[in-house]
Amino acid sequence: MSILVTGGAGFIGSNFILDWAVRSDELVINLDRLTYAGNPANLATLTDPARYLLIQGDIGDGELVADLLARYRPRAIFNFAAESHVDRSIHAPGTFIQTNVVGTFTLLEIARIFYVSLRGDEERDFRFIHISTDEVYGSLNPADPPFTETSLYAPNSPYSASKAAANHLVRAYFHTYGLPTVTTNCSNNYGPFQFPEKFIPLMILNAINDLPLPIYGDGLQVRDWLHVADHCAALRLVLEKGRPGETYNIGGDQEKTNWEVVTTICDILDRLKPRLDGHSYREMIRRVQDRPGHDRRYAICADKLKNAMGWQPTRNFTEGLVTTIDWYLRESAWLKSVNSGAYRDWVDKQYGLTAGVGAL
Ligand code: NAD
Ligand code: DAU
Repeated sequence: MSILVTGGAGFIGSNFILDWAVRSDELVINLDRLTYAGNPANLATLTDPARYLLIQGDIGDGELVADLLARYRPRAIFNFAAESHVDRSIHAPGTFIQTNVVGTFTLLEIARIFYVSLRGDEERDFRFIHISTDEVYGSLNPADPPFTETSLYAPNSPYSASKAAANHLVRAYFHTYGLPTVTTNCSNNYGPFQFPEKFIPLMILNAINDLPLPIYGDGLQVRDWLHVADHCAALRLVLEKGRPGETYNIGGDQEKTNWEVVTTICDILDRLKPRLDGHSYREMIRRVQDRPGHDRRYAICADKLKNAMGWQPTRNFTEGLVTTIDWYLRESAWLKSVNSGAYRDWVDKQYGLTAGVGAL
């Protein structure tokens, strides 16, 4: 048996595959375009080709996807592949539409054709799990209740609009064609292997390099933080117990302002890696221009998932942050190679023009 994971060389996908490999012998096929955010070195410990295979390619390449499905007959597709950074979507939305909307459409279409060819247990068990975001619901005011699965969509950035569009397509493929899809909308993840353009790893990286810690606007925007391992655990359960056609929200019940997050990071670093001049890292926090259209608050009600599957987030945010910061300090070589772009040389050598489909 096998599963197809798309975008598995990114932050959440890498964590998901590493975690999966500990629990299952099943072959994992990782279809990843290896954009700037995809780093195959995250998965370098997976060396058995009978259990893990990386294919460099695009989810929008229908022929490649069809070939992979025919060849490996996965029992599930986990679609993590996406352009995921809101700031980048503001500056260059095109690739977000291409990958998140058109790419997801192609993946759905090829999955549909594959699904209709299935019979018996293969047909009964097949699932298309689409990994999405709480950002599709837009922004909350301070007194608003958290988003539920029935909250109206109100995406505010090109990123969230592209994810919302993809979610609608996934829904349509269930209702129109009976493709057994399940969609998850998760809150902000943190943990190992996160690309240091995102808030938490960026603050850690800048702090240890004596660079300013940029806070957008007043820093009172609120995010609900979930450790990536808890997200991965939820996704495994969703494959096992999720009902086709359903959406499940996933969140950590840990709402924090950006100020709280950055000052907590500074306090932890003050203990784990004190500055040579004896000052606190807090002195490096700087307020900078706000993100255009910046969503004020996200909060997630994950009761549907908790009640249906017994899932609970297991990591307290501050404790999770301590282990995360400790990981980035220990894995300074990873951080350095990602930050300098050196990992791209390695990617190009390993997966240059002659690799990818031809390497099948
Ligand atoms: P990421 O940017 O770290 O990784 C994305 C991966 O997708 C990369 O490996 C990249 O190379 C790959 N990719 C991009 N375009 C591709 C394409 N056309 N074909 C194949 N692969 C492609 O993202 P992440 O933070 O790991 O997020 C993974 C998924 O989870 C995304 O769909 C994102 O919207 C969703 N999500 C993320 C968070 C979060 O806090 N990071 C929260 C909720 C949902
Ligand atoms: O809510 C889920 C979403 O969380 C995911 O769908 C996205 O893929 C993921 O990137 C994340 O989106 P955010 O925009 O919330 O994450 P980001 O890490 O970019 O920013 C978190 C908060 O920190 C946000 O309010 C903006 C702020 N910020 C971010 C950066 C990079 C700063 O104040 N300064 C910064 O330098």
